[in-house]
Amino acid sequence: MKILEGKVAFVTGAARGQGRCHALTLARAGADIIALDLAESIDTVPFPGATKDELAETVRDIEALGQRALSIQADVRSQTQLDDAVSRAITEFGNIDILIANAGIWGLAPFWEITDSEWDNMIDINLSGVWRSTKAVTPHMIERGSGVIIMTSSINGMEPCMNYAHYVAAKHGVLGLMKNVALELAPHGIRCNAVCPGAVDTVMLNWQGAYDLFAGHEGGTRDDFVRAGHSFHALKDVGMLDPQVVADATLWLVSDQAAVITGVALPIEAGHMLLTGSSDPS
Ligand SMILES: NC(=O)c1ccc[n+]([C@@H]2O[C@H](COP(=O)([O-])OP(=O)(O)OC[C@H]3O[C@@H](n4cnc5c(N)ncnc54)[C@H](O)[C@@H]3O)[C@@H](O)[C@H]2O)c1
Repeated sequence: MKILEGKVAFVTGAARGQGRCHALTLARAGADIIALDLAESIDTVPFPGATKDELAETVRDIEALGQRALSIQADVRSQTQLDDAVSRAITEFGNIDILIANAGIWGLAPFWEITDSEWDNMIDINLSGVWRSTKAVTPHMIERGSGVIIMTSSINGMEPCMNYAHYVAAKHGVLGLMKNVALELAPHGIRCNAVCPGAVDTVMLNWQGAYDLFAGHEGGTRDDFVRAGHSFHALKDVGMLDPQVVADATLWLVSDQAAVITGVALPIEAGHMLLTGSSDPS
């Protein structure tokens, strides 16, 4: 029997990247999947958003694994849309056992140049969106007396980085939210944990600004980015992380093998935070 046989998982940001990988990994383990994504670009985000075709591809891939999939185009900035999505999921699949609150955005600017709308969108999606997604599934999980919630934070939930204070603030906030949710839902038999990935090779990091950041100069390339992955992570032969390593750790966290683990922030970063780094005196 597969370890998630008979379970239903609700995954936000499922059209591509880590969200798609979570969806397919949970489906391979026997879960049916609600795949939710905005599937549109956002004007304050400097790289393209996922598309409707990508969301449809996630659903096709889940079905090809023999699991049921429900595709929902919705925005984690809207409580109404998330509540509707949860109602539809319960009507069609009967219940929700797992939430992976993964949808997120990124952007780059010194904190004093971040605009109000860039700041607001970042917090609205990366922090409030996680709260809203959790809020939407919680009454149902309380009623059933069980459930598992995973919130996607980041190593930037634990450490700062130059030029994206809004992202760092949101991801730190996710860890505070995770601990409070874990505390409040523990008496109901519901677990809540966070994953904190290092640098993952997805669209979020594959655009010119990200290449420049990792190269340490303008005109950075994909090759610079790939090379930088090796100095960013401490473990031998580990470069930019494949989304699969995040999904594999998450699969363990949602499974019964982690049945007494709650309120934990799990770094998935090949020893990145062991590195002390240095500052440029120039
Ligand atoms: N890539 C990294 O290095 C890295 C590292 C640590 C944490 N993370 C986090 O992992 C998560 C997944 O990111 P990824 O690397 O797969 O990037 P990605 O850009 O490939 O995927 C993000 C997904 O979220 C969706 N999304 C964005 N805004 C949304 C909204 N308002 N409503 C619904 N869906 C929305 C996008 O359409 C996209 O499909 C994010 O929370 C990100 O912050 C990424």
